[in-house]
Amino acid sequence: MASNLDEIERVFGSIDREVWIVTAGDASRRGGLVATWVSQASIDREHPLVLIGIAPNHFTAELIDASGGFGLHLISADQVHHAWNFGIGSGRERDKFKRVAIAPIEAASPILDDCLSWLDCRVFAAERTGDRTFYWADVVAGGAVSEGSPLTESQLIQLATDEQKQLLRAGRDADIVIQRPLQAAWRADLPRSLRLK
Ligand SMILES: Cc1cc2nc3c(=O)[nH]c(=O)nc-3n(C[C@H](O)[C@H](O)[C@H](O)COP(=O)(O)O)c2cc1C
Repeated sequence: MASNLDEIERVFGSIDREVWIVTAGDASRRGGLVATWVSQASIDREHPLVLIGIAPNHFTAELIDASGGFGLHLISADQVHHAWNFGIGSGRERDKFKRVAIAPIEAASPILDDCLSWLDCRVFAAERTGDRTFYWADVVAGGAVSEGSPLTESQLIQLATDEQKQLLRAGRDADIVIQRPLQAAWRADLPRSLRLK
């Protein structure tokens, strides 16, 4: 167990990640979430790839597994309403697209009409690591919709009301309770291919 948790938290707190909206859907369901575990995964412009880390308890993971695709979106501070809609609560309890306009774009997943930019991603590999499933995906289409700087995590917190901060904290704490044992179980039974020795 780490000894100086405050210092470690300060290290992570010194970086400011972009806030992505991940969407997915199959024939009868649709949903999405907020994610910071999103990375460009290729330097080859002719084969653009992304890698995202999604918790398996989230409804969106179920939708990605079912459809084999997801949409990625960057939003501006003016579009922060998407973060409250997709980042709080579960799509199992409400249709997160009920009041969200979907762009008239042929994609594997619903694409937000109102965003800075979007990517249509098709999964070709999924690695299940306890509290996260890592999806590698080909980026098959994308577009820049409007000018602006992508919303970051620190801006998200600055824009949150006290109630929204409380809901974000409650969601995170509930996730930790579910995800901690998933990670422990995965580590206790690590596949041989992932062991260092
Ligand atoms: C700033 C921020 C970053 C997040 N990053 C991730 C992430 O990378 N992966 C993930 O699975 N959940 C992440 N979450 C949590 C989900 O967005 C949240 O639990 C969501 O409500 C899950 O919705 P769903 O069950 O409808 O899929 C993040 C939440 C916030 C506020």
